Amino acid sequence: MKTPFAVLNFFLVFYLSAVLCVSYQPTWESLDKRPLPDWYDKAKIGIFMHWGVFSVPSYGHSGAASEWFWHNWKRNKPDAGTVQFMKKNFRPDFQYTDFAPMFRAELYDPYEWAEIIQNSGAKYVILTSKHHEGYTLYPSKPSWNWNSMTVGSKRDLLGELAHAIRNKTKVRFGAYHSLFEWFNPIFLQDQKNNFKTKTYVQEVLMPEIHDLIVNYKPEILWADGEWAANDTYWQSKQLLAWLYNKSPVKNTIVTNDRWGKGDRNKHGGFFTGGDRYSPGTIQKHKFENAMTIDRYSWGFSRPSNLNAYLTIEELLSILAKTISCNGNLAINIGPTHDGRIVPIFQERLSQLGQWLKVNGDGIYETRPWHVAKDSSNSNVWYTSKNGTVYAIVLKWPGSTLSLAEPMVQAKETKIGLLGYKGNFSFKSQSKNKGVIINIPPLTVAQLPCKWAWVFTFTNLKNK
Ligand SMILES: *[C@@H]1O[C@H](CO)[C@@H](O)[C@H](O)[C@H]1NC(C)=O
Ligand SMILES: *[C@@H]1O[C@H](CO)[C@@H](O)[C@H](O)[C@H]1NC(C)=O
Ligand SMILES: *[C@@H]1O[C@H](CO)[C@@H](O)[C@H](O)[C@H]1NC(C)=O
Ligand SMILES: *[C@@H]1O[C@H](CO)[C@@H](O)[C@H](O)[C@H]1NC(C)=O
Repeated sequence: MKTPFAVLNFFLVFYLSAVLCVSYQPTWESLDKRPLPDWYDKAKIGIFMHWGVFSVPSYGHSGAASEWFWHNWKRNKPDAGTVQFMKKNFRPDFQYTDFAPMFRAELYDPYEWAEIIQNSGAKYVILTSKHHEGYTLYPSKPSWNWNSMTVGSKRDLLGELAHAIRNKTKVRFGAYHSLFEWFNPIFLQDQKNNFKTKTYVQEVLMPEIHDLIVNYKPEILWADGEWAANDTYWQSKQLLAWLYNKSPVKNTIVTNDRWGKGDRNKHGGFFTGGDRYSPGTIQKHKFENAMTIDRYSWGFSRPSNLNAYLTIEELLSILAKTISCNGNLAINIGPTHDGRIVPIFQERLSQLGQWLKVNGDGIYETRPWHVAKDSSNSNVWYTSKNGTVYAIVLKWPGSTLSLAEPMVQAKETKIGLLGYKGNFSFKSQSKNKGVIINIPPLTVAQLPCKWAWVFTFTNLKNK
């Protein structure tokens, strides 16, 4: 009796592994079928952080973002402002690499960062593990003399944040990684060979990403700098197949779309289009609007004055538009070279957190409604969840709020406001369309929040 059972068992195991263990092939046809792990869509909001050697000069201006400093300074037609800045302030033979020993992060407390991030209401964080300058924020063998453990702080900056985030919060940890490097001689040689050689990818990029994934287990891999070559050169499809099939984060990792020239908004996980991507209409495919609180810069930029920073009203308006259209919002801040998150970023994130404490129901885990924006009021964006429709109203309406989209039922529909007890009386604008909501006079103290208000609708005809 033993033998047939073992044979049966063998076939059962074989059959089940074929059916259950979906295995992705290194082709877009296969990779694009992978469902996006659903934590990501539910999360809605992340914090992006650009930190690197560029945070030492931390010099940017409109048209020359600070994280591009090296390139702004040394590219073929350099940025005049950056050249001037270097001439005026540094000795003539000063090299970009001379900034690295100054990246000491002496005030960096990853637990404090974790707290700031958690209190913003964001559900994930993405740190630049390596930007286009090539310097890694973690010890990296291929980048043996150009990483934070070897030169600068002598600390594993990325590992420390990953640890603090996981130790103290429920926020998910993710990593940004640039595929190309402006001035890496190994990459430049491949480029010179029209990418017929792949030395850089084989000896630098793949080992580096492999270590990053295995050692830190990021749940987002946010690729960038892909435009220099196609995804065949980058071996992106092989990388993604490994990430999805075999890596230690195969079940939860989320990726973006920057995997090779021409891949944006076509392949990979969520779409990112260009920076600050906000299509303004409901997208079928999940997207992320990666944007900056300092409107000119991803890295910290000392010349930025108050006007450079988005106000909380601007930030919430971008948030509403993004979420209503099926996007996630990745809000970027740039820490300083000594490891601080400056108070203006802290204030904006803390305001966001206060707002989400009251209004998070209309954001987290929502889905787009059947329209993104009210057709009669461009300050109103919709989301929905479990039969409730949420209208994010960016300007306080006064005594009545007229909306074109909700179809109310006189008896069944209830209209309320997040953070406010009690419901509002209303009447429909016409037989099957629109609503006029009566809003009693409320003092500032009675308003549930200060900047954008979320009205709730239950039992609409068009829920
Ligand atoms: C958090 O860190 C402390 C100190 O390093 C450690 O003892 C503890 O086990 C950690 N907790 C988690 C959940 O990682
Ligand atoms: C990708 O680039 C390589 C090297 O330039 C080229 O040989 C190859 O044909 C390209 N592949 C595709 C699919 O465009
Ligand atoms: C609301 O919807 C979420 C996600 O769709 C689901 O997990 C949850 O159980 C629902 N809650 C209620 C009260 O229906
Ligand atoms: C307002 O409407 C909600 C949703 O239908 C209902 O649960 C709640 O009891 C109502 N509150 C008041 C004060 O009428």
